[in-house]
Amino acid sequence: MNLPPFKLERYFAKYEFNTEFLLCSSDCEAMSIADLFAMEAGAAEKFQQVWLGYTESQGSPALRKEICKLYETIQPEEILVHTGAEEAIFLFMHAALKENDHVIVHIPCYQSLTKVAKSIGCDVSPWQAREENNWALDLDELRHLMRSTTKAIVLNTPHNPTGYLMSHADFEAVNKFAQENNLILFSDEVYRESEYDPATRLPAACDLGEHAVSLGVTSKTYGLAGLRIGWIATKNKKIYQDMAGLKDYTTICNSAPSEFLAEVAMRNRQKLIDRSLNIIKENLDVMDEFFARHSKLFQWIRPTAGSMAFPRLLKGDIEDFCDDLVKKAGVLLLPGSMYDDSRNHFRLGLGRRNLPQGVERLEQYLKK
Ligand SMILES: Cc1ncc(COP(=O)(O)O)c(C=O)c1O
Repeated sequence: MNLPPFKLERYFAKYEFNTEFLLCSSDCEAMSIADLFAMEAGAAEKFQQVWLGYTESQGSPALRKEICKLYETIQPEEILVHTGAEEAIFLFMHAALKENDHVIVHIPCYQSLTKVAKSIGCDVSPWQAREENNWALDLDELRHLMRSTTKAIVLNTPHNPTGYLMSHADFEAVNKFAQENNLILFSDEVYRESEYDPATRLPAACDLGEHAVSLGVTSKTYGLAGLRIGWIATKNKKIYQDMAGLKDYTTICNSAPSEFLAEVAMRNRQKLIDRSLNIIKENLDVMDEFFARHSKLFQWIRPTAGSMAFPRLLKGDIEDFCDDLVKKAGVLLLPGSMYDDSRNHFRLGLGRRNLPQGVERLEQYLKK
């Protein structure tokens, strides 16, 4: 296994905890345990009784029962809880892929989605999202990428970093393509339930058949990254069992307090969704106005879901710009080069309450 440094994580490690305005976070505004408990009578008292022994490796039955409510047909025994979505990506790839397998990955992407497969010795073909198509994926390109050795497609919608949400028709077509060609569809759905129009929400891939594995987490739409609770949902027993077997070598089981808190969160998830979407929508209005004022400097494609967008700087170099901005103004933007993008894009985060103040600071910087 030969994993390169995780560029985005290394960039954040430099600035995340010493910069005033994080204008590029992927997670939505978090909250305290007290705020979470205010959503459910009796939760604070029950928390005192949480037993601090080892927990069930697949995740507590009560938590898995709550997670199932995200899906139409999934049963608790088809949910495997992990320490964050990150652990689940790592274990999925190690369980399902082997050297020389060919994998098609939606890019730009969260780095693990390509690099873990590459570290196993897989051939990875990028399925490129294109700005000129409002970041949509082209199904013809998918057909052309297919080889006799193709084992899996990795899809992420709502998408990090562009905020692209696939259409129902295209999502159905991707699933059909995977099924007809006997491919695994690894569907990273960590931004699901943050669609700006709920009617556009896609079905979860795991509900569409045994070919699919859906990935979820409490970090993003629900704003609870510090719980480090993620999961996969799948009807594919082999992948489930192989991942469960590997988990014995990583975390064995999850944190008992986090599982309890995640259960409360998932029971109250509509309140968490509404809270995050309110913040995102107010921030989107601020960004629309900002980009209208600065249309000569930035190219802005409004996202349709999720807590991020991927605008483009039209003058200068994005790495220099972000570097100077964070040092002089205390505002963090993430250069697209952290995603191996070479076209001057940057990641903008829309889920934090202090975005308007951060944008004000950015604007003062631009005036200078
Ligand atoms: C698309 C995607 N998948 C997975 C993850 C990992 O989530 P977590 O950090 O909560 O484990 C992230 C985090 O940014 C992500 O954006």
